[in-house]
Amino acid sequence: MKYVIGVDLGTSAVKLLLVNQDGKVVTEVSKDLHLIQEKTGYSEQNPQNWVDQTISGLYELYNQFEGEAEDIEGISFSGQMHGLVLLDKNQEVLRNAILWNDTRTTAECQQINDTVGKERVLRITKNQALEGFTLPKLLWVKNHEPEIYRKAETFLLPKDYVRFALTGKLNMDYSDASGTLLMDVRKKAWSKKICDLLGIDIGLCPPLAESYEEVGTLSSEMADKTGLSKSTRIFAGGADNACGAIGSGILTEGKTLVSTGTSGVVLAHENRGDRNFQGKVHYFNHGAPDAYYTMGVTLAAGHSLTWFKNIVGKEETFDQFLENIDTVPPGANGLLFTPFIAGERTPYYDSSIRASFIGMDSSHEKKEFVRAVLEGVTFSLNESVRLFRDQGKRIDTIISIGGGAKNETWLQMQADIFNAKVIKLSSEQGPGMGAAMLAAYGCDWFGTIQECSNEFLQEEKSYEPIEENVAIYEELFKLYQQIYSSTASLNKKIMQYRQ
Ligand code: XUL
Repeated sequence: MKYVIGVDLGTSAVKLLLVNQDGKVVTEVSKDLHLIQEKTGYSEQNPQNWVDQTISGLYELYNQFEGEAEDIEGISFSGQMHGLVLLDKNQEVLRNAILWNDTRTTAECQQINDTVGKERVLRITKNQALEGFTLPKLLWVKNHEPEIYRKAETFLLPKDYVRFALTGKLNMDYSDASGTLLMDVRKKAWSKKICDLLGIDIGLCPPLAESYEEVGTLSSEMADKTGLSKSTRIFAGGADNACGAIGSGILTEGKTLVSTGTSGVVLAHENRGDRNFQGKVHYFNHGAPDAYYTMGVTLAAGHSLTWFKNIVGKEETFDQFLENIDTVPPGANGLLFTPFIAGERTPYYDSSIRASFIGMDSSHEKKEFVRAVLEGVTFSLNESVRLFRDQGKRIDTIISIGGGAKNETWLQMQADIFNAKVIKLSSEQGPGMGAAMLAAYGCDWFGTIQECSNEFLQEEKSYEPIEENVAIYEELFKLYQQIYSSTASLNKKIMQYRQ
């Protein structure tokens, strides 16, 4: 039997999956990652922490493996998107990585719009300038830390740095590069125009690769450290959302994914790169050949839940924390939550908005608050579902992965709020599985990624919307939508009191 490894570099943890040729996850290891938040709006990580935890995860995975090192044929990656890693001429890291959920770059987004022009940014990159994307972060370093910027020779995205540490090779795949705002998404090439207009040396941009392309083998040093063979083939991998889509079989038009990790996304497959969503949803290259995907993002999905659990249920497991939510009716007994604890992307694109609980009553207990958090996150995802439907997309079946697929009540809530059938897969490893599938396809185990998906993925259970709940949630969603406009200016004013 042969095996591949999928490495999923998330924000809170790096997860590693050892997958066999039948698509079975044989071993799974997770290693926590450290987040650095020095100020409100700032979110950084030390790239060395990613590398150390990945090496230690690979070592652990290999130690639990009973076969020969050579049986593990390939490794590929899924990575948190957009984070900026800067390397100097000796390929040393110049500063902490600035992550996707860091919102310090509002002025740089304005600079991009003023200098390049909103329309041109949209035409070339298929996206609008948002704080989370990489280009504004690069400009922030250029504007605020010029001495560091001057030393920069290359920039990478998070999983590219981990891959570089394992192979010594510098690459970035198209699916992740499309989230930098520096790539011409249709031409699949770095945009000289954008670089020139903003005074960025295009030489900073690394060589591009397909997600399933072999970019090297494991270095001898890393083979020694992990126990794996130095003949292990390394494939480029993709953005976590592209890999989540592959790992959930979102490979044809009409398929929709809802993924709840630290962030939450609603993602739809696109065959074509020439549709125009006016930047209302993100439009990126897929990890599968010649494909794209569109997506709306809730910045704090799982993050809202972990934030709230850390405050009121730190000692509990997630199962204990969510125990009684099924005893609370839809609407959480008159409590609404907006999950804007780190600002919001789709549909508001507002980094200064913050979260609210509306309707708090002295009768409310912890379970009402927990249910309200889950409903608020799902309402926020529903904003993206609505946007897609408004653009004429049919969304009647949704594959749900991540934290939201681990709880029956939440799965039913998704079916009721989205008013669509929600499917849970038997192995809902999402991004990690997608990464493993890229390696499996790269190793020629299958003729296409679709064939790999047919073999590896099975539906476990589906949830149909309950009419009565759909009606209640439709009314509540209208109230939920009013909270943004009612609190936006209040939040702008209160911002000055945040440290
Ligand atoms: C997508 C985004 C997030 C990160 C999370 O645009 O910023 O989903 O990829 O890892």
